Formats: sequence, structure tokens, C-alpha cells
Amino acid sequence: MLRFLSLKFGRLYRCGKFLLVAGLFVVVLMNTHSLLASFQRNELTDRRFVGLNKCPACFGTSWCRKFMNGQVSFETWGRLRFLDFFNVKNVYFAQYGEPREGTRRVVLKRLGSNQELADIDQKICKRATGRPRCDLIQSMYKTEFARLNGEVRLLTPEVVEGWSDLVHCPSQRLLDRIVRRYAETKDSGSFLLKNLKDTERMQLLMTLAFNPEPLVLQSFPSDEGWPFAKYLGACGRMVAVNYVGEELWSFYNAPWEKRLDLAKQLMDIAEQLTNNDFDFALYLLDVSFDNFAVGPRDGKVIVVDAENVIVADKRLIKQNKPENYDAWYESRAEECDKEACLSFSKDILCSRVTVDHNYYAVCQNLLSRHATWRGATGGLLHDPPADVIGDGRLETLLDECAKPSRQYGRFQAAKDLREYLTQLSSATGNSVR
Ligand SMILES: Nc1ncnc2c1ncn2[C@@H]1O[C@H](COP(=O)(O)OP(=O)(O)O)[C@@H](O)[C@H]1O
Ligand SMILES: [Mg+2]
Repeated sequence: MLRFLSLKFGRLYRCGKFLLVAGLFVVVLMNTHSLLASFQRNELTDRRFVGLNKCPACFGTSWCRKFMNGQVSFETWGRLRFLDFFNVKNVYFAQYGEPREGTRRVVLKRLGSNQELADIDQKICKRATGRPRCDLIQSMYKTEFARLNGEVRLLTPEVVEGWSDLVHCPSQRLLDRIVRRYAETKDSGSFLLKNLKDTERMQLLMTLAFNPEPLVLQSFPSDEGWPFAKYLGACGRMVAVNYVGEELWSFYNAPWEKRLDLAKQLMDIAEQLTNNDFDFALYLLDVSFDNFAVGPRDGKVIVVDAENVIVADKRLIKQNKPENYDAWYESRAEECDKEACLSFSKDILCSRVTVDHNYYAVCQNLLSRHATWRGATGGLLHDPPADVIGDGRLETLLDECAKPSRQYGRFQAAKDLREYLTQLSSATGNSVR
């Protein structure tokens, strides 16, 4: 009886497998045409696909010629449109070809989910016509994005304050910098709004309100040593940035020396964004293993998600002297049930000169044993070699940096940790790059 049953099941199983394979075959056969078309067509030359038809309710046009010429194309899997279903983040990997320079990898971002993009369209329409659907281009001229057209000289704090993290507490100096560095115009380099076209001003404001990431990358460019991905250009609702490399997460189980080097660089980034010659403090609010990437050649760590960066003008804070402005501010690590969360008050980050937020974020969410990510615990510096464990200093410093036990303990721990990591790196011969 038992034997009979197993025979029956065996046959059923084989039969099921055959049906599945046959079914898949039929589906593929039926879709061959669209699959082939997907591979052959370059959708990035399609105005609607890139969202060029939405301009000036878009992020720019500086790369449109390259898109329309077919110089930007998806990498193999990116061509299969049905996979977009899984691409909630709307981030695509692509190749960009320059006639003489060969090709290079780029990342294309729509800067938001489809829902978020639909919401902004709806908001523009509601604002202009009171209805959720409308002629987007006409409506743009009736929104606050068109407010600066005409005689306005400068982009001023009252107009954009609070629109996004970049301008949570903007100073005139920051806004002038954003306008001067705005690359989505023919001749950038002026902080005067009159040197931008009406449509360019609207695109600038729209980007600032929807997702300021491109403006962070343009205002604090990688060419000048800022640890962000290089901004390349935009066409419609697509923004192109340089491909950096694999996520930091792929290095979670890398050899100890490599992780040591990455940890040191992360602490350096925290320091650079906090203290620099420009007196702008850039606080990272979204610090996780997938928002940093590592260059394959130089091994450099880069921030690849700059949507949630608060920029505080320390010069302005020193000038305005808000209450307690010169008291050192220590972020308090609070328990939360999600991964990679941080506690902070945007208003405090905006009103103090000395703030340990970036060290807190890097230590707690990436380096120390308190860091958890995709179920892994222990942080980037997990399982150190026996001599480092024996010494005990690393764990003490990481703990103090993540959850300080003494007043101003994190400031000191962050400084000591950077020195100690440098010392450990040089002791291991550091041939990891
Ligand atoms: N410049 C880049 N180089 C390499 N990978 C990138 C780059 N930008 C984004 N990515 C990858 O795409 C993912 C999603 O991008 P991100 O900007 O973080 O989107 P989101 O804002 O939705 O989190 C990142 O976690 C990273 O793996
Ligand atoms: Mg991200």
C-alpha cells in the first residue's frame, strides 16, 4: 500500500513538474515578441518613459540629448520592464557611452516611488485647479513653484524653509550656494535667480520640494572632496549619478583588515560632514548599510543616498546665537524596534554649533555591536582578531561612541576611535585596497 502511494506521488510530482515547465515555456513563447522588443528597444530614448513630457514639473533637462541620442541604456536585466514591479525604489543601473571615452556605469533614479511621483502630480493639480487631474505643465505656472518668476533676485529662506531636509533651516549662504551650483541650466555659476529661465527656476524648486538629493550632490560635489556620488545630469523625471560600487552591506563579512579600513573611512566621513572649512554641518539622517557604497578600484566609501541630509550653517548659528547655541549637543541613543533608526531633533541639529549626531549615527547603525541589519547583529566590526579582543579598547570605544556613559563621552570616543582604527590599520599592514 505504502509503495503504491509513493509510486503514485512520484508520478504526480513528475507530471506536475512537466506541466510547470511546459506552462513556463508557453508563457515565454507568448511573450517572445515583447521580450525581444524589450531587449531591442532603448526605452530611455522615450520621452514619456523618462518623464520628459512632465517638464517643468521635472528635475531637469541637461542630459536629455544624451538620453535621446541613445547614449544611455539599461544593463541587461534592467531592460525587462516587468521587473519594474520589484523595483520599488525606482533605481536603475545603466551604461553611458561617450563617443571617445568608452562606456561607464551610471545609476538612474526617479527620486521616489511611483506612488510618491503620482502624489506630487496630484498635489500640483490640486493646488492649481482644485482637481486631482489636470494639464500638468499649465498648472505648474499656478503653483508656488512659479512664485519666484519675475523680479525676485535671490532664493530666500522664507520661501523654501522646511520644504525638505536640505532646507530645514536654510541660510542665505546655503541657498546662494544651491543656486550657484545648480547644474540644470546652460550657464550655471550665478546665485542670481534672474540668470535662470522660468522653467529652470521651477525645476529647481520642484526638486527642492520633492527630493533634494540632486541638489545636495551638486552643492557639495564629489570633485571637491565631498563623500557623495557624482551628479551627472537629469532628463525629465530621471536623474543620472555615477555608479559607485557595491553596497557597504556586501562587505559585512569581508576580511578584518578591509572592514577596519571601511570603518575608519566611515568615521572620517562623520568628521568631515560635521567639521569642515565651509562651516556647513551636514547631518546624515538615514544611515544604514545600503546607503553607502564602496568604489571597486580605490576602495573609497561614498554616501549614495543623500535624500535625508540636514544642512546647518554653523556661521549663521554663531551669528544668531539661539538659546544654548554653544552648548555641546549629545544625541541620546533610544531603543526602537526597527533596524537602523536614529533619534534626533531637526530643530536642535539646526541650532547648535557642536553636535555629535554623525558619530552617533555611524557608531550605532554601522560599526558597533548595537548595529543590526537584515537580521545580522554585531556591526561592521564584528569578530575582531584575538589580540584586539584581548586589548578590549575597541569594544569600549565603540560602546562609548554608540551609547556614551559619561558626559561628552561620545566626542572623546569618536576622536579616540579614529586614532585607534588608524593605528590598527597601519599595524595590519593595510594592503586591502
Ligand atoms: N551611485 C550609486 N552607486 C551604486 N549604487 C547605488 C548608487 N545609488 C544608489 N545605489 C543603490 O541603489 C539603492 C537604492 O538607492 P537609494 O538612493 O538609497 O534609494 P532610496 O532613497 O529609495 O533608499 C542603494 O541602496 C544602493 O544599493
Ligand atoms: Mg536608500
